[in-house]
Amino acid sequence: MRICIIPGDGVGQEVIPAAQRVLEKLDLGLEFVRAEAGFEHFERTGDAIPQKTLETIKACDATMFGATSSPMGRVAGYRSPILALRKAFDLYANLRPVQSLPGPFSRQALDLLIVRENTEGLYAGRERMEDDDTAITERVITRRASERIARMAFEYASKRNKRLTIVHKANVLKLTDGLFRETCLKVGREFPGVNTQEMLVDAMAMRLIQDPQNFGVIVTTNLFGDILSDEASALIGGLGVAPSGNIGTTNAVFEPVHGSAPDIMGKGIANPVGAILSAAMLLDYLKLNEAAGRVRRAVDTALAQNILTRDLGGTATTDEMTRAILAAL
Ligand code: NAI
Ligand code: MG
Repeated sequence: MRICIIPGDGVGQEVIPAAQRVLEKLDLGLEFVRAEAGFEHFERTGDAIPQKTLETIKACDATMFGATSSPMGRVAGYRSPILALRKAFDLYANLRPVQSLPGPFSRQALDLLIVRENTEGLYAGRERMEDDDTAITERVITRRASERIARMAFEYASKRNKRLTIVHKANVLKLTDGLFRETCLKVGREFPGVNTQEMLVDAMAMRLIQDPQNFGVIVTTNLFGDILSDEASALIGGLGVAPSGNIGTTNAVFEPVHGSAPDIMGKGIANPVGAILSAAMLLDYLKLNEAAGRVRRAVDTALAQNILTRDLGGTATTDEMTRAILAAL
């Protein structure tokens, strides 16, 4: 099988090679094809995600992606390549598992999966200046996108701990989140074995801190899922350990939840665990579940030996952390 490797910007250049080393060590006969994308590539060539990269992704079985830097203001011609990828390959589901890790930096007994709608909502890209003093973003929610994300979430819930929470703000966003909520509840009727509840997003933000162990699968719209998953990552040690997968019907792109981390890039101290656990998700996607389990156990073993990067309170470098995981494998 062929894996496309796109390190991208900043610490992506440090953590994706670490994940590749882990995948290579498994000896699964995977073939790796390197491709370019990101803000740095845009500044050099005027193209954030070249056509050749899109073709490479298409020709591969799955992709590992690092991160991209996105400037705060508008830069002519630039659009975040990860958003472009999600659109180009219709990667409609963003899976963000939050599972306890061994160590004092992580809460225990957590087995959460945030299933975030990945193609519309506030990130649909419909922004405009109404006049000099008024900016407008349109929040798009469709029945089709809500239905397919709900179906994926319920399928996971029925295979996992049978608990699913629909998170929305339908009390205020009556039309958009009203449609999302209603569609999710309707899909839920096909899954009578799943214990379904709903929660307003602001209350959910609190409950994630208060009693996260009482939740299983959380299905929500794009922006809410983005925010809640960063919040949830803090329960297990922060952004450095959080993995994710962007899943479509014919393709999938796996990436750590974190961004390019310009504050620590180039220092060799970025935590590779988020990228390595994303590689484990890639293996699950390719139905190499046994190998995925080996990677997760190796990460647990290394962390339990107290080999920790700085974000987790230790002193290990990216390379030392990676070597501990390779040794555990
Ligand atoms: P960030 O995720 O890059 O960093 C937030 C904080 O977490 C920083 O203090 C950073 O040092 C720390 N951190 C992140 N990854 C880490 C790792 N592997 N090990 C240890 N510590 C880590 O988010 P920030 O600073 O808000 O954004 C920086 C850039 O990344 C921006 O240009 C933003 O647009 C982009 N970004 C890209 C994403 C993507 O490619 N999917 C996601 C989020 C942000
Ligand atoms: Mg985010």
